[in-house]
Amino acid sequence: MNNDNIKSEKWKIPLYKIYTDDEDLQLISKVISRGTQWALGPEVEEFEKEISSYVNSDYCVTFNSGTSALHSTYLSYGLGNSDEILIPSFSFITTANSVLFVNAKPIFCDIEESTLGLDYNLLEEKITPKTKAIVPMDYGGLPCNILKIKEIAEKNNLLLIEDAAEALGSSVNGHKIGSISDSSIFSFCGNKVLTTGEGGAVTTNSKSIFEKLKQIRSHGRTDSKNYFENPNESTYLDVGYNWRMSSITAALGISQLKKLDKLVSLRQKNAKSIINKISKFDLKIITPPLGYDHIYQMFSIRLKNQQIRDKLHSFLIEKRIFSKVYFPPIHLNSFYMEKFNTKKGQLPITEFVSEQILTVPIYPNMTNEEINYLSDSISEFFDFYEEI
Ligand SMILES: Cc1ncc(COP(=O)(O)O)c(C=O)c1O
Repeated sequence: MNNDNIKSEKWKIPLYKIYTDDEDLQLISKVISRGTQWALGPEVEEFEKEISSYVNSDYCVTFNSGTSALHSTYLSYGLGNSDEILIPSFSFITTANSVLFVNAKPIFCDIEESTLGLDYNLLEEKITPKTKAIVPMDYGGLPCNILKIKEIAEKNNLLLIEDAAEALGSSVNGHKIGSISDSSIFSFCGNKVLTTGEGGAVTTNSKSIFEKLKQIRSHGRTDSKNYFENPNESTYLDVGYNWRMSSITAALGISQLKKLDKLVSLRQKNAKSIINKISKFDLKIITPPLGYDHIYQMFSIRLKNQQIRDKLHSFLIEKRIFSKVYFPPIHLNSFYMEKFNTKKGQLPITEFVSEQILTVPIYPNMTNEEINYLSDSISEFFDFYEEI
């Protein structure tokens, strides 16, 4: 479907809006006005400690994106050389691309309808002697069935690396996402619940992975002192990258993290209002299973079929409400089809859900007028859609 003629400034309701306040400005300004340590400043470690304490992990390493966080994690565990990594196809492209960055092989697995995360019942049939890791993803802030997936990983002696890019703040049975898997990665890019514009992080309980991640993030160096304040030579142990987060970004992260619980409850309140208004229509609401805390990084609905979904998508865009399909299956992306000979029909639930799903706007300071305009537009669609 092509809605290219629509200009973004025309949106009456964007897909997301960032929540910011004076504290964000103050903390960033403090770093800027001190005129030094814009890189490797104390804010970076402070932000990492705050994230660890928030999710209840022993360690955290920040990155300049969720993608570099995931890439680094694969490198830290030494994954590569045709190792097979089980991933969902119902995800953002990075989940699969990062597997290719290290020359490993993505093995696409199907999802379950309840959480839209990997179906733990279908994982064991994909495990071969080459399988090294399972990488589940938490869709739009709703945790996948991570406790069951963890059982499968442990039983088969596989690494569990969680792509929790969309899920900082969510939890299962009181366990925060970021504390359950061997390592979990987060993204802080513009559309996330905690955003710093761009940014990412890995949480883990492994000291050796923590050390490796820091080394890879910073040119392969093992600095015990701040590089920019140390007149002596550094030791470079391996190839490395510059994937560090800046001090200004980390300051913003500290400030956003203080607000995270408030941002989540505002999103949950707005999701509840939208659900109350639209659940009477012929669509499916994605409802978190008991014990799952959904942070609504995205608010997605499912329509009866692709035709209705596409019509609603166009209708909302005409109404200047930003909506989008998250996600088209990765295994049906032309590049992956050519490279891995993946085919339609291979992952029935993923394909079926991708045909039905539509993500509509949600953000913390959504007004009642915006919520009403969204729900009234959906109502109008169902009153008239057969003629559209
Ligand atoms: C599921 C998933 N994984 C990974 C990423 C990559 O994060 P980033 O955009 O910060 O590189 C994203 C974010 O966009 C994501 O949604």
